[in-house]
Amino acid sequence: MKKYTSVILLICSLHFLAAQHSSVDILRDWKFSNYDHGAAFQENFNDADWEHVTVPHDWAVKEDFNFTHDIQLTMVIQDGETTPKYRTGRTGALPYVGIGWYRTNYTVSATELEENIELLFDGAMSNAKVYVNGAYVGARPFGYISFHFDITKFLKAGENTIAVRLENFNSQSRWYPGAGLYRKVSVKKRNKTHVKTWGTFVSTPQITNKKALVHLDLEVVGEGKCTIFNEIIAPDGKKIAQNSKDISLSGEAKLSENFKILKPQLWDIKTPQLYTLKTSILKNGTAVDTYTTTFGVRSIRFELDGFYLNDEKIRFKGVNMHHDFGPVGAAFHKELFIRQMKKMKEMGVNAIRFSHNPPAPEALDICDEMGILAIDEAFDEWQLGKVLNGYSKHFDLWAKEDLSDMILRDRNHPSIIMWSIGNEIMEQYQHDPNKITSYLNTIVKSLDTTRATTAGFNSANNALESGMAATVDVAGFNYKPGIYHKIREHYPTIKFYASETGGSLSTRNSYKFPVVFDTLQNQRGTSVHTELYADGQPGNYENTNVPWGYAPYKEFASQEYNDFVYGEFVWTGYDYLGEPSPYHTAKSRSSYFAPVDMVGLEKDKFYLYKSEWNEDTEVLHFFPHWSLPEMKGKKIPVVCYTTYDKAELFVNGKSYGIKTKNKPAIPEFLATDIKKEASGGTTMAQLEAYALVWEQVIYEPGEAKIIAYDKKGKKVAETRRVTAGKPHHISVKNETQIIQEGEVAVYVVSVVDKDGNLYPHYNKNMKIEVSGAAQFLASGNGDPTNVQNLSKPTRAFFNGQAVIYVQSIAKGTIVLKTNSEDFEGTNTTVIVK
Ligand code: GAL
Repeated sequence: MKKYTSVILLICSLHFLAAQHSSVDILRDWKFSNYDHGAAFQENFNDADWEHVTVPHDWAVKEDFNFTHDIQLTMVIQDGETTPKYRTGRTGALPYVGIGWYRTNYTVSATELEENIELLFDGAMSNAKVYVNGAYVGARPFGYISFHFDITKFLKAGENTIAVRLENFNSQSRWYPGAGLYRKVSVKKRNKTHVKTWGTFVSTPQITNKKALVHLDLEVVGEGKCTIFNEIIAPDGKKIAQNSKDISLSGEAKLSENFKILKPQLWDIKTPQLYTLKTSILKNGTAVDTYTTTFGVRSIRFELDGFYLNDEKIRFKGVNMHHDFGPVGAAFHKELFIRQMKKMKEMGVNAIRFSHNPPAPEALDICDEMGILAIDEAFDEWQLGKVLNGYSKHFDLWAKEDLSDMILRDRNHPSIIMWSIGNEIMEQYQHDPNKITSYLNTIVKSLDTTRATTAGFNSANNALESGMAATVDVAGFNYKPGIYHKIREHYPTIKFYASETGGSLSTRNSYKFPVVFDTLQNQRGTSVHTELYADGQPGNYENTNVPWGYAPYKEFASQEYNDFVYGEFVWTGYDYLGEPSPYHTAKSRSSYFAPVDMVGLEKDKFYLYKSEWNEDTEVLHFFPHWSLPEMKGKKIPVVCYTTYDKAELFVNGKSYGIKTKNKPAIPEFLATDIKKEASGGTTMAQLEAYALVWEQVIYEPGEAKIIAYDKKGKKVAETRRVTAGKPHHISVKNETQIIQEGEVAVYVVSVVDKDGNLYPHYNKNMKIEVSGAAQFLASGNGDPTNVQNLSKPTRAFFNGQAVIYVQSIAKGTIVLKTNSEDFEGTNTTVIVK
């Protein structure tokens, strides 16, 4: 099998001959061992019995869950804790801790050795030590950062050995970090004279309808006389600008160029137009190196009254995203990130905060292509740690390099609007004695002044009083909807947004009765119901939350009232592995916060966000589902998330009346004192401001129907839910029809009655068999308490549903078969091209 794939970057231009090329080899095939072989760095070490793996690879996600993995004894100050507590499952109950070795071979020719060869990691978890032919090349502790080494001098003509040692420690993370070479690894071969990696910075300092000024800062390295030739290609593929400059190189050099683009096509959320800059270095009329930079023409402004994109005020309808793909783990798959983003866009999302570390580079390409704003975030810790072996161990030695590399790698992405230097950093509590906010802010500004700096503060008063919030351009506040008005009143020059919001808990299609709201929460500021449903299955009424959290509508209300707040980033868009707050005691291994569960299926609150955020479609969704035999004859609340003005509920034909949303002029929960930061808890009244609620509906099996009316009382839409009949068959739905070789396909598997209605109580196991053009990769069901191995082909349904991931291995048709003890389901629809 071929060890790597080459991407040849041919230089095509009418103006000169292409005699040489730069090329990138992606290193996919590696040998792996989870044992610390001391000698594995050596060139002739025998790795014959090691496992053969394909990178991106996550060594921990395939293993069994076990709550003894990485038990953390911690006191989380942010949670208001005053004594340390044991936490299980915080890092996902998967064995990410330990040592992993990877080895591969790489062949170069004698001619290539005369040129320049670079080894590039998009991210390695973590504490990477890299060796080539037994020689130590370099190290990089931070697991989320991209890094590269010039390995030319370590190579020889013929076959070479690359070895990488990774090591993860206990208490290294607050969520599941993944383990291994979980992002792309590549080798760049190029002329000794070349554009440096991340050596271009394109900005668009002036934009009018008629023209845009494009500015390029360029870093090259090499020797001798050469010509730097730049071309700009418009979104339609036409070349629209070019220039060339003769220079004489002797080592590294920095150059700047300006271009004009007439009638620029702007990069915008709805029209994410992308331009390409091709930089070529010519010697004697022959191109010896080429470098491509994708960029967008767009303006951003950060004003006291809001954020402006191309002079239009845009409010962040944002979500936070951790980097994992649920059952597939941390290994980066572009198509799975696209899947996540499509779901988020459907909800109306226009911005992502990459919490709390830089994402895979492809994730930002996708944000560029899909028109999604992005915040790149560097750190979750500075000098003071949150966990015993977190980034604080590396901060002093590495922060400058890590932060700089994040910016150098990512500063051409039009999607990126802000650089976050940290999340909820502990230095807030000491008023930042070492002035790290200013230190990091200055590093960012030395590399990019076109974007704002930011940080996510959970201790708003400390951050404001210490000046930390004023040091960054735009402050982010986590979970503070009760005091935005007070922040503006006391600190009128601070621009800010809500960097984390929400914090109510739910699992898909679970309903718990009675629905109890904590009526005292306004006085206390926090909810008492953190452990209300001790079985780890809170319902979908958003009436339970972590102490600092609250239901989505509380944020909506505060943001509407305080329209200068730039918008919000929900914690989180998708449920993620680890952090099963508040279920810390050996019950759950993944989070509960998101509108979409860990396998990508919507919970009810997805439709709440969609009803507020998606401007292109109407929404009419209600819950609970209508298959609740244990509730027969009992009263339950029925909640409808909708874009319509009013609606009427009918149960088996009986009307429960027309309801409208009931929005108070001023939200009742706004604090009178800026010091009262805690905004936790939710009430039925807050829900009724953003949803239609029938509080006392007698549940009877049959049909519940909602008819929506416009302002004039005309019927405009209808939706219904019926009580499911007996489970009848398994439906296996593919999400995509055609995939490329190597890509992952996703299937949603549901148990339905004879009419196709979901039977939401089916929780039995199914066996999964994949043949044809793919192999089984993983499966999940969105239940945070499910501890079945994610990578073995047995999966219990959760409330009638599960999701299967398969990876294609050849061209042809994928055959997926599932069977439970009652039913079988098959899908042969997906084609690998
Ligand atoms: C925040 C923190 C996030 C996550 C969240 C859970 O305090 O920044 O990383 O832990 O709480 O609610």
